[in-house]
Amino acid sequence: MAPVRRSTMTAHTSMSWRRSVYLTVALIVTGLASAQPGLAWGHEGHQVIALIAEQYLTAASKAKATDLLDGSMIDAVASWADEYRRDHHETGPWHYINIPLADSKIDMARECPDGNCVIAKTEQFLAVLKDPNADKHAKGQALKFVIHFIGDLHQPLHDEDNGDKGGNTRHVNFDGHPDNLHWVWDVGLLQHINRSPVALAAELESRITPQDKAEWQKGSIEDWVMEGHRLAQTVAYGDLSSENPAPITPAYEQQADPVIELQLEKAGIRLAYLLNVNLDGGSL
Ligand code: ADE
Ligand code: ZN
Ligand code: ZN
Repeated sequence: MAPVRRSTMTAHTSMSWRRSVYLTVALIVTGLASAQPGLAWGHEGHQVIALIAEQYLTAASKAKATDLLDGSMIDAVASWADEYRRDHHETGPWHYINIPLADSKIDMARECPDGNCVIAKTEQFLAVLKDPNADKHAKGQALKFVIHFIGDLHQPLHDEDNGDKGGNTRHVNFDGHPDNLHWVWDVGLLQHINRSPVALAAELESRITPQDKAEWQKGSIEDWVMEGHRLAQTVAYGDLSSENPAPITPAYEQQADPVIELQLEKAGIRLAYLLNVNLDGGSL
């Protein structure tokens, strides 16, 4: 958001009055959107993950998904659950799991009360996808949740809490403006990577080897969450200055960027794998 803000300030003088009013309104709207706490990877992160996954879906599961989504591809609906959450507040906790940052294992009774966390909800919606008795509407909705939640659980700050609502209340300075650590990992770092979702997905996909794919498909959703949790310990908080607000330095970004890129790759591979297993009757 910040580079847009800066360049428009300088462009303002040479711009027509009408155009500058439009731009100001647009900036206020985008500013408000970025100020929303606790949403997932931004739209871009979710789209990149779905674009990678599309390349690994079998023809049958791709056709099944498109049918359940009334003709849409999975990347078009990857952020639907964040919009749904705005009017359905009870679904907010479905997007994360607050495992205390210092812990090394999950306590489901404490951290996933009544199944209201990203692990239980992902498993529950996967079960709907493969249930032969579930109707098309229920399956379509389950598919949209699965696409989104596999993304969320690969964002390390969705797998932890450090007494700061998953980093939402941890103040940072990013690019000369005050923000919070959660937003930096959802949106800010990806903005600096500065590629279109299609270009970034293609670049990340080109790095994935058949061995990576085989390795990443192993394990359970719990294992993947703990992988993210360890990255929160070692990188997201481990490399963070203890200052308040903490500066997000070039050195910090250098540690964080490869982590973000690898998490997007893993999420794409694992999403495709789960959809192939659950939509295409396990014909792998
Ligand atoms: N709200 C509270 N904890 C959160 C987390 N870990 N991720 C996203 N939103 C949250
Ligand atoms: Zn988030
Ligand atoms: Zn989310």
